[in-house]
Amino acid sequence: MKVYELQKVYFEEAYRTGEHGWPVTEPERFVMDFLKKNKRSLAGKRLLDIGSGEGRHTIAAAMEGLVAYGMDYQFLAVKRAIGFSKGKDIKGSLHFIAGDIFNIPFKDGAFDVLIDYGVLHHIKKPDAMDYINRLPLLLKERGYFILSCFSNRFKHYEGERRKRDWTAHRGHYDRFFKKKDLYEIFADTFEIIDVAEEINGLHAFYHILMRKR
Ligand SMILES: C[S@@+](CC[C@H](N)C(=O)[O-])C[C@H]1O[C@@H](n2cnc3c(N)ncnc32)[C@H](O)[C@@H]1O
Repeated sequence: MKVYELQKVYFEEAYRTGEHGWPVTEPERFVMDFLKKNKRSLAGKRLLDIGSGEGRHTIAAAMEGLVAYGMDYQFLAVKRAIGFSKGKDIKGSLHFIAGDIFNIPFKDGAFDVLIDYGVLHHIKKPDAMDYINRLPLLLKERGYFILSCFSNRFKHYEGERRKRDWTAHRGHYDRFFKKKDLYEIFADTFEIIDVAEEINGLHAFYHILMRKR
């Protein structure tokens, strides 16, 4: 099986068993800080959470007054996200769809904010530019993009050594980024506003806030 087929099964299992390494309902502070800090200007604005999983950031955005769309290719995750949204104080509006990042079913310029929390680092390097090039097209003028991806300091286990900046293991693909990679990839199209590295035990991530140039 090719890596994306295996990876789809990996995410399917992750949601079926509930055993995955990222929080189910708790949104990340980096996202919440952005939503709270820009609350006034973001009210009624359109946000797409790409690879939204169980919807923690999509729901948070809708609760803060945005017109929030979550998209994921895992039906079970989308179903759970809809379930988690029940009874929440949604001040904007909330929409979930099943869809693939390689075929994002929205028009260019459809969004003011994009979120990718944990998807880009699962895209093979040769395919990533197709996805990355679509992002600024989906955004309106001066739209925001919030990205979270693995830092090259991320380790799966103590003592892990890698010769490359990617690995395929246990049915999925992981790519690791240095801060300078992020600038090389994004700085031409996006103004990079904030880059925070989070190190939590063996796990290390970059959280990046960008704005379309
Ligand atoms: C690490 S999880 C993060 C989920 C969510 N963003 C969060 O922060 O809770 C990555 C998500 O990307 C989704 N995903 C991976 N490849 C995808 C693809 N090709 N199209 C759509 N979603 C994808 C997975 O199903 C999974 O829900």
